[in-house]
Amino acid sequence: MTDEYGLLDTDPEAAIGDEWEEIDVTDTEADRIARERDRKFEEFEAQIKDAEQFKVEQSVFDDATFGALYKLVADDHIEAFGGPISTGKEANVYEALGADNTEVAVKIFRINASPFQQMRTYLEGDPRFEGLGSDKKAVVLAWVRKEFANLQRAREAGVRVPAPIAVERNVLVMELVGLVEDRARRLAEVTVENPETAYEVVREYMRRLHTAGLIHGDLSEYNMIIHDGELVIIDLGQAVTIHHPNAGDLLRRDCENVAAFFSRQGVDTSGNDLFAYIAGDDDRVRW
Ligand SMILES: Nc1ncnc2c1ncn2[C@@H]1O[C@H](COP(=O)(O)OP(=O)(O)O)[C@@H](O)[C@H]1O
Ligand SMILES: [Mg+2]
Repeated sequence: MTDEYGLLDTDPEAAIGDEWEEIDVTDTEADRIARERDRKFEEFEAQIKDAEQFKVEQSVFDDATFGALYKLVADDHIEAFGGPISTGKEANVYEALGADNTEVAVKIFRINASPFQQMRTYLEGDPRFEGLGSDKKAVVLAWVRKEFANLQRAREAGVRVPAPIAVERNVLVMELVGLVEDRARRLAEVTVENPETAYEVVREYMRRLHTAGLIHGDLSEYNMIIHDGELVIIDLGQAVTIHHPNAGDLLRRDCENVAAFFSRQGVDTSGNDLFAYIAGDDDRVRW
């Protein structure tokens, strides 16, 4: 195809199977750090709470979240914190300096304010989370692990997503797309040049994701970002496997949202066309 929008080449050897990783959501190292509260942790917490960029949001973070950040710093995944990029419903995203002077994005999920009942409906029916209870913390932690695992899986499938770096309790560290001083924009915020090509790239990524057994579940111009001519799909926390009972409905909704956006840009398509392109011959999901 074309270099525009940075469509990734795929590795024909990298066969993605349908096997799922075990995900453990029991007590974490971060909880232990927060419980024990040694002097270094106390200092770290005081310092972060005092930092300009956390002042507004600090009330939403519990001690164990600081424990998770402490652990990520101790493990050299984070060197220094930058400012907020986004304050969302269930998570805040910050810029930070990671290992080897790279810039990273740190997504911090809120345990208490999260719409966890809604989250549960995405986790139920996912073979990776069988037996997950209804405990709020377990649900949010599973969600974060799921976003990490989904990013990894999507990457292996040749879909351009932020590279996952580390996950600790309710905190996810990933590649920052764009630079601190030159932020990536959401597709919704830019004038899409050559929408036909952008659409082809998105369509191809949706198909690759589906082939790898995943459905994004919240795909729209708000969860695609663009930087330096490269289109990147983000926010895979809610992505479910194609075996999920709502997989068909979610895929249909994704197709409708994506097709509606590109139709407004003048591309001749519809949700139905897109669905047929992605999963037309897959009996497990139906329009
Ligand atoms: N890896 C990343 N690189 C650059 N910007 C990001 C990254 N992840 C998230 N963002 C920014 O943060 C916003 C919110 O992130 P997202 O994962 O969509 O969370 P939410 O669940 O709040 O929608 C995005 O719209 C984007 O602007
Ligand atoms: Mg989002």
